[in-house]
Amino acid sequence: MIDIVRTVDELRGRVGDWRAQGFRVGLVPTMGALHAGHLSLAERSMQLTDRTVATLFINPKQFGEGEDLESYPRDEASDGEKLRAAGVHLLFAPSVEEMYPDGFMTGVIVGGLGDVLEGTYRPGFFDGVATVVSKLLNQAAADRAFFGEKDYQQLLVIRHMARDLDIPTVIEGVATVRETDGLALSSRNVYLSAEERSAASVLYKTISEVALKVRAGADILNLESWGRDQVLAAGFASVDYLSVRDAFSLEPFTDVSGPGRVLTAAKLGRARLIDNVPV
Ligand code: PAJ
Repeated sequence: MIDIVRTVDELRGRVGDWRAQGFRVGLVPTMGALHAGHLSLAERSMQLTDRTVATLFINPKQFGEGEDLESYPRDEASDGEKLRAAGVHLLFAPSVEEMYPDGFMTGVIVGGLGDVLEGTYRPGFFDGVATVVSKLLNQAAADRAFFGEKDYQQLLVIRHMARDLDIPTVIEGVATVRETDGLALSSRNVYLSAEERSAASVLYKTISEVALKVRAGADILNLESWGRDQVLAAGFASVDYLSVRDAFSLEPFTDVSGPGRVLTAAKLGRARLIDNVPV
């Protein structure tokens, strides 16, 4: 069984012992329901550091009203076993009371970057993410922390938050792990029926094609609306956004000589899928 600690004091004790022995420490925050995408973050951490701590905390502050907080898949025993098999050294799995004790009243807000795209459709989401991740970074005091490009805007928000708050942990981005048909691995893919699952890969195929055509010089507004039509034609119920943005500021992509990113979120059955690719 993997070693599990549930309190911040125990976590600090374990990390402190490692540091005293000269080990570099990596942190991999997750909400559980682990798949190969999460495990690729752990693998990257094990390449770049000597000791890896994964965290499992379903953060109530990042779920909006009507979202899936209650039904979010939970299976700590199976997650712990996957992490142990991957070689992760420690699992930090705090309770809600440990993270947000009575009287908790502080929040971290990343304006600008946190207000667009996902921020428009999930108000408060990035405040919840920035608050919990700043706590996890302070609690673990790791050398590096690992986040997936799958949640590209989240990665940017966390990078800015760490920079703005002088958190010394280096934030590392890790490439998206995909199924063979291109669908990005996600804990929420279990919500898809068999029929929806086969339509789902259209999202990745479409944004990949949009990225290629942007590079070839096609008109961006036309491409964005072509992309939305493709996704709707495949059976998605709605497209929240499908947008070409500057890869760092997430402003509309006007300087086509710089790096861009195509980002999308769309609803398919019970699931809301998000994905992104570089331009
Ligand atoms: P969760 O959705 O569990 O994801 C944990 C980490 O795994 C995130 O950094 C996410 O980007 C990464 N990840 C998910 N799917 C991936 C894939 N297919 N390929 C590569 N990486 C992938 O994101 C969260 O949890 C939370 O918001 C959290 C950061 C833990 C804060 O609560």
